[in-house]
Amino acid sequence: MGAASRGPLVGESSVPGDKSVTHRALLLGALAEGETRVRGALDAGDTRSTAGVVRALGASVAWDASDACCTIVGVEAPRSPPHALDCGNAGTLARLLLGLLAGHAGRWTFDGDASLRGRPMGRVVRPLAGLGADLRGERLPLELRGSPLRGGRVEVHVPSAQVKSALMLAALRADAPLTVAQHVATRDHTERLLPRFGLRVEREPGAVTVHPGRPRGTTIDVPGDPSAAAFLVVAALLVPGSELVLRDVGLWPRRTGFLRALDRAGADVTPLRVRAADDASDDPRGDLRVVCGELEAFEIAPDDVPDLVDELPALAIAAARARGTSRFAGLGELRVKESDRVLALAELLATLGVPVRVDGDALTITGVTRFVAAPSTGHDDHRIALAAAVARLVMGAALPAEIPSADVSFPGFVGAVERLRAPSARTGW
Ligand code: S3P
Repeated sequence: MGAASRGPLVGESSVPGDKSVTHRALLLGALAEGETRVRGALDAGDTRSTAGVVRALGASVAWDASDACCTIVGVEAPRSPPHALDCGNAGTLARLLLGLLAGHAGRWTFDGDASLRGRPMGRVVRPLAGLGADLRGERLPLELRGSPLRGGRVEVHVPSAQVKSALMLAALRADAPLTVAQHVATRDHTERLLPRFGLRVEREPGAVTVHPGRPRGTTIDVPGDPSAAAFLVVAALLVPGSELVLRDVGLWPRRTGFLRALDRAGADVTPLRVRAADDASDDPRGDLRVVCGELEAFEIAPDDVPDLVDELPALAIAAARARGTSRFAGLGELRVKESDRVLALAELLATLGVPVRVDGDALTITGVTRFVAAPSTGHDDHRIALAAAVARLVMGAALPAEIPSADVSFPGFVGAVERLRAPSARTGW
């Protein structure tokens, strides 16, 4: 039996640690001098893949489940294991790792699951090869032979933080600083983290310059993942009577695009106790108070997308219950995620009885007051399965005891919902 099928979400909850920060902290820790402690690290399918790769490279990784702390002792020269580096379902891992290893001596094969084998890698392979990397191919499995890399300047034409980050990590082994220019602003986890590892980064509008160097071990405090929070935020906005506080969520501008979109929809979401940088983190974080209420249709423009790319499945459910017709435009990158999320969302919304149109890379969604059928949470793509779970909560349908694909990014989702529906959660605030 899963979560109770009815009742508001009331009380306080934490959310899993930021997946992007955890991947990067583990990867940089793997090659750092000394020890790196990652507190509040995400322990989920994707980041377990990263820990596995980090061990395969010769670094040690110890998880302490009692305080969600992961301690890594890095190596200077990554090992070349006789087997492929298994990136599982994690696109971020595969792309960042290609950049991280490209300038080290060694040979590696990169592989992943069936979904990852279908995702584009040429977007990272080509610019890395332009720096001198010995790498060819469009899809996993890929072979990399480490080689000397050149610094200089490279333009990234894909609006992807992963591509930018792969180049920034490759720059650590280049013969000179590397400037990575990108025509749209994308997530800035790598820019924020490299200085924490003692590395030199200069930021300017539209470009970032990374100086070569070896990371120095440090302590990172990982904030709660806004992409995970988005599912609980949308559920609380739509399940009648809900009033929720989500604790310690990362709240810097490149991660809060979904809050700006929900603000345009008239949603009652208030950041509380927002804290800026402290000794262990340059990541502003705070709590989010969410109160259920009516939503208006809202627009998402192409330039908004990089700042809310992973939150679009949750936002689609919000649009499905908003008054009027919402249009999400410029969703091309959504087609190359763990699944073609434009199609997957269109199918999910159609199951719910929501008028939806796919128009090139845009989705037009007309909100309804009632969903007609409960969707399955069995989709292989974690964010589509979680969006289906939110739709089920909104219509009062029970959740299954487990949502298998959610293990990739939000392993405790069903439990978190159950606790928010238990009377004890209601006494906390
Ligand atoms: C991520 C960037 C995004 C996002 C992914 C995590 C990152 O991908 O979808 O889940 O950690 O840099 P793109 O940058 O390819 O859009």
